[in-house]
Order: sequence, then structure tokens, then C-alpha cells
Amino acid sequence: MDGLFGVRTTGIYCVTGCPSRAARAENIVPFSSAEEAEAAGFRACKRCLPQTCCVDSQGFAVWPGVLSAAQCDGVVASYGDSDLFRSRVVMSRYNFGRGEYQYFAYPLPKLVAGLRERWYARLAPIASRWTGRAFPASHAEYLAECHAAGQTRPTPLLLQYGAGDYNCLHQDLYGPLVFPLQVAVLLSDGFTGGEFVLTEQRPRMQSRAIVVPLKKGDAVVFPVHTRPVAGTRGTYKVNMRHGVSQIRSGSRHTLGVIFHDAAV
Ligand SMILES: [Fe+2]
Ligand SMILES: [Zn+2]
Repeated sequence: MDGLFGVRTTGIYCVTGCPSRAARAENIVPFSSAEEAEAAGFRACKRCLPQTCCVDSQGFAVWPGVLSAAQCDGVVASYGDSDLFRSRVVMSRYNFGRGEYQYFAYPLPKLVAGLRERWYARLAPIASRWTGRAFPASHAEYLAECHAAGQTRPTPLLLQYGAGDYNCLHQDLYGPLVFPLQVAVLLSDGFTGGEFVLTEQRPRMQSRAIVVPLKKGDAVVFPVHTRPVAGTRGTYKVNMRHGVSQIRSGSRHTLGVIFHDAAV
């Protein structure tokens, strides 16, 4: 796992090697976890996103405030612009839940394309460690692999839920090539219900539910289908699903960023 350190003068903590922090040695405080750094009152660096190490310890990580309120509103408003999307899915038709979503078309909106590239680069080393296969450093190279394997359709999506809607527990697999982590950004506030839920199923155990509290503009990083957990007899795979509990009032939009593309 990456090492973490805080800088006393700025109150910010980073992953070892973060290019945005050059600090004098006497101002550096080492931390063994993001939880420890937060408990000591340090704030996470926006560039190296040090909370990411929580995907190993707890199965998900929250990146607070990755989008401003204005950016969130802009993405939500784009839902009505059909030129931006390749297809629309009404979830009740497929028993996926209730609500709808649209897959963005290529070329992706600049904001979405930028996030997908940047977040891929941050997560690729973890994906490589999790799977034992070397994911390329850049998303462009990884997409070239997907496209060569016939997974050519873009998977980033915008989801829209109203009162009574929900998303059943699922996994976002779109073909044999799978990048094992994905990101969702909550774009709304002012709704009730509509919690982001993960379930984790360990071998020979009942499922465990995890509710991830999110604010408008926060992102959650979580496994697409499995995650490795260290046990006494080596590492084993834990099966993960995600969904959204029923929205009681208001409306909820999410931007989903999946890094593999979909088979036609
Ligand atoms: Fe999903
Ligand atoms: Zn940093």
C-alpha cells in the first residue's frame, strides 16, 4: 500500500511521491491510514486523492468535493441534450430497478473525458495489484485494448432517479475485459432516501451491506465485481454488488465512470 504523509504547515495529507507537495522534513508527519490523517485534522490533497487507499481496507473510498456545485448542475442539465448520449435505459423494462440512465456517446463531454483519464491513472496501479495483470499507465492505451477486443462502446453514464425510484444491486460488466474499480459522483442534494449501497459477500458467509454517505460533488470509488481480501490462508476474492436504495422525495442524479468499454 502507498505511504501517506501530512504537511504541518498546510494541514494537507498526500500519498508518498505526490508531485504537488515539496515540504521541509521537519514539517512532515507520516500516517499509516487516511482515517488516521483525517482524525489528526489533516485534509486530503485534491491531486493525489490519498483516501484511495481505503479501497483496500474497507472496499470503497470517498473522494469529497471532486466537482463543484456548478459543475454538478451543469452535468445534470445536460441530461436533456440527446446529442450527448448513445442510448437511454428505462430500468423498469429490464427489472434493473426504477429510474433511468443514459450512456454518453463518443466523443465524451470534456469534463467527463478528463475525469475518466485522470481517475484511471490514479486507479491503474491498484487495479494491477488487485488482479496481477499490468494495466497500462494511460487510459488511452487501455481503451485501445478494449477496442481491439471488440469492447468499443462508451460506458460513462448519467443516472436520473425521482421519488420511488431505486437501483437494484448489480455489477457493471460489459464484456470479458474488466477494469476492477469504478467511480460514481453524486450530483444532487435536497433528496431523501437514495443511499448508495454496497454489499460484500465473502466465501461461506452471508452478505454484508455498506451504506456510503455522500454529499453533492463527492465521488465514491468501489469495485466493479470483486475485491481481494487478505485471509489467513492467502488472498481470496470477495464478491461485491452496488445499488441505490429507494428515493423517498426529490430527485437524484449520478455520474457513473466505468473505465472499460462495452461490447456491441
Ligand atoms: Fe452500476
Ligand atoms: Zn497530494
